[in-house]
Amino acid sequence: MLAPNPALSADAEERPGAGAPVIEILSADKVFPNGTRALAAIDLTIAGGEFLTLIGPSGCGKSTLLKLIANLIEPTEGRILWRSGAFDKVGARGRSIAFVFQDPTLMPWARVETNVRLPLDLARVPSAESRRRVADALSRVGLEGYARYYPRQLSGGMKMRVSIARSLVIEPNLLLMDEPFGALDEFTRNRLDADLIRLWWERKLTTVFVTHSIYEAVFLSTRVIVLGARPGRICKVMTIEEPHPRHESFRNSPRFAEHCRALSALLTEVSVEQMRS
Ligand SMILES: Nc1ncnc2c1ncn2[C@@H]1O[C@H](COP(=O)(O)OP(=O)(O)OP(=O)(O)O)[C@@H](O)[C@H]1O
Ligand SMILES: [Mg+2]
Repeated sequence: MLAPNPALSADAEERPGAGAPVIEILSADKVFPNGTRALAAIDLTIAGGEFLTLIGPSGCGKSTLLKLIANLIEPTEGRILWRSGAFDKVGARGRSIAFVFQDPTLMPWARVETNVRLPLDLARVPSAESRRRVADALSRVGLEGYARYYPRQLSGGMKMRVSIARSLVIEPNLLLMDEPFGALDEFTRNRLDADLIRLWWERKLTTVFVTHSIYEAVFLSTRVIVLGARPGRICKVMTIEEPHPRHESFRNSPRFAEHCRALSALLTEVSVEQMRS
């Protein structure tokens, strides 16, 4: 593990990820009805303002864990708390979760503004408020001027920006992203990463992110969880103690290279342990 960065604030309260727990996963596991044990008992607390990344081999349960956090599926055993209350007790009150998938899943027949507005229409938000929020979300992802375009007129990276705008429009207090930039070229991915980290920093968005990229994990995260497979479980935890906001210059710094080396070594350790077991 690298020595702490002297540029970091000494005051722990000022550091991102030092907030009260947003999600507490208490010995939650998942066995699917066909008998597949996707996750062994997981214990994990996600703090307010944290940028937490899940990384690990294909099939180790990253998407399953995100779905548990989103309450899209239920744990077989164990519990998941939202701001210290059980999901079934607190219900949807105060919980606004956005889920961004690898595929932007836009409606091809609808203009960008209509795609972004969809969650607001579903929630019956009045049109003046809805217009304001859509314009704000599009400008946050650098797509002002594209509201009247159709998805087919946009590049892959722009479509992903629309998908992110659609998730921001509901003003989420938890953002879940499942390999959102996995299908994009590295140049576009780096640009979207830089935009995402800026958004996260500006809005203090608690974020759980899934990736297969070591570089992306190091650039974005305050903490990285390395999962092992069969069944999925937490094998290693690494904090990335580097100042925010992070800029492109961080990618070219010796500390970035050190963190990447350290994370790569942890992934190798996990795969060696896996082969032995
Ligand atoms: N609905 C389901 N029914 C049965 N098994 C499932 C279901 N969803 C996932 N699984 C299994 O659970 C395990 C974990 O799957 P999951 O999709 O969470 O992995 P992952 O880490 O997201 O993989 P990848 O990196 O390929 O996206 C896999 O063995 C998968 O086959
Ligand atoms: Mg997955």
